[in-house]
Amino acid sequence: MKILITGATGAFGSSIARRLAEYGHSLVLVSRNNDKLRCLAEELKVHAVEHQTIAIDMAKPETIEDTLSHHIAELSEIDVVINNAAIAGEFSISSNYDFDTFNRVFDVNVHGGAFLFFVNSF
Ligand SMILES: NC(=O)c1ccc[n+]([C@@H]2O[C@H](COP(=O)([O-])OP(=O)(O)OC[C@H]3O[C@@H](n4cnc5c(N)ncnc54)[C@H](OP(=O)(O)O)[C@@H]3O)[C@@H](O)[C@H]2O)c1
Repeated sequence: MKILITGATGAFGSSIARRLAEYGHSLVLVSRNNDKLRCLAEELKVHAVEHQTIAIDMAKPETIEDTLSHHIAELSEIDVVINNAAIAGEFSISSNYDFDTFNRVFDVNVHGGAFLFFVNSF
């Protein structure tokens, strides 16, 4: 299968990617940092399956469609999307809460879900 994983370079994402690669699945690895993505894709080459990478900032949902339009080949025939990317923000009592952080958490964790819609439209 061809499986797209967001947050692929993180703790959970990279563990999921390693296991799926072991089973021979072809992966599309997604996060912001291109160097980390390439490093993971390089590591997973040992399983002799092709993996692709897409660097994207899911905190900027308005840029997602445009960025993905440059990756049509990578996005063809995706069977499964694992929408794992998320941030926790900071925990604090409401009177001290930093609204920039609050908004960033919602952009990545909630609005970034628009990603799934756009992936499905390619
Ligand atoms: N680890 C735990 O104990 C735990 C427990 C319960 C739930 N969870 C949940 O599991 C998920 C993954 O957790 P984790 O521990 O693997 O987190 P992590 O190690 O911090 O990884 C987060 C991943 O998301 C990517 N990411 C962050 N912001 C992004 C953005 N704006 N756009 C695109 N990608 C972004 C990061 O890559 P870049 O920074 O390179 O973009 C990284 O690949 C989260 O939903 C988390 O809330 C984790």
